[in-house]
Amino acid sequence: MRNLVVAIDGPAGAGKSTVAQLAAEKLAYTYIDTGAMYRAVAWKVLQQSATNITEELILSVVADIEVDLQYIDRKSIIFVDGIDVSGEIRTPEVTALVSQVAKIGAVREKLVALQRKMAQRGSVLMDGRDIATNVLPNADVKIFLTASIDERAARRWRQLQLNGYSVDMSELKQEIAARDKADSEREISPLVQAADAVLIDTTRLSIDQTVEAILNLCR
Ligand code: C5P
Repeated sequence: MRNLVVAIDGPAGAGKSTVAQLAAEKLAYTYIDTGAMYRAVAWKVLQQSATNITEELILSVVADIEVDLQYIDRKSIIFVDGIDVSGEIRTPEVTALVSQVAKIGAVREKLVALQRKMAQRGSVLMDGRDIATNVLPNADVKIFLTASIDERAARRWRQLQLNGYSVDMSELKQEIAARDKADSEREISPLVQAADAVLIDTTRLSIDQTVEAILNLCR
């Protein structure tokens, strides 16, 4: 398929990274997980201070952080200052902090510039919150992927279990709702469906069906 730029946005736990990764494999495209980049900044902030997190601290971290995202052997690997932190960025602590970090203009400016550069050559599938609306407004295919909050919480719960984290389902639901609220209500590039994006509700779709829907749109 010609080298398209595909943008996928949506709320937390909608399965974006799972299906985007599989669709990228089928298309032989590069998958770019922008959420991992925001998580990388949050991870480094937590390395500096676990308790006293101020805007000044976040700004000082973003001023000299080096974030690099590589897609190697169909795996997305995220580096902070040369260190592979792909596992570390998935902890509940990072998840709890990331929206606070992602709302800061200087953080977004730095990461969005990097994301645009990564998409320059085309044949990319990028997922996040503001890809179709802000990062790549000229993307060839724009998708807004969502699912009910109950379904998203259940999926996230299963994923965390697999990674060895045991969490309370109702707490998880609250955390997802709070993160969606923060991401949707922030001033800069909030999470919103682009006017020209196609909505895919995955509540009753399997992973395969969702991947197929994405591939159909690309065709
Ligand atoms: O996709 P994931 O859940 O890993 O994203 C983590 C967080 O990063 C989101 O909740 C959001 O605060 C932020 N994010 C963002 N813009 C993006 C991707 C992620 O603000 N394009």
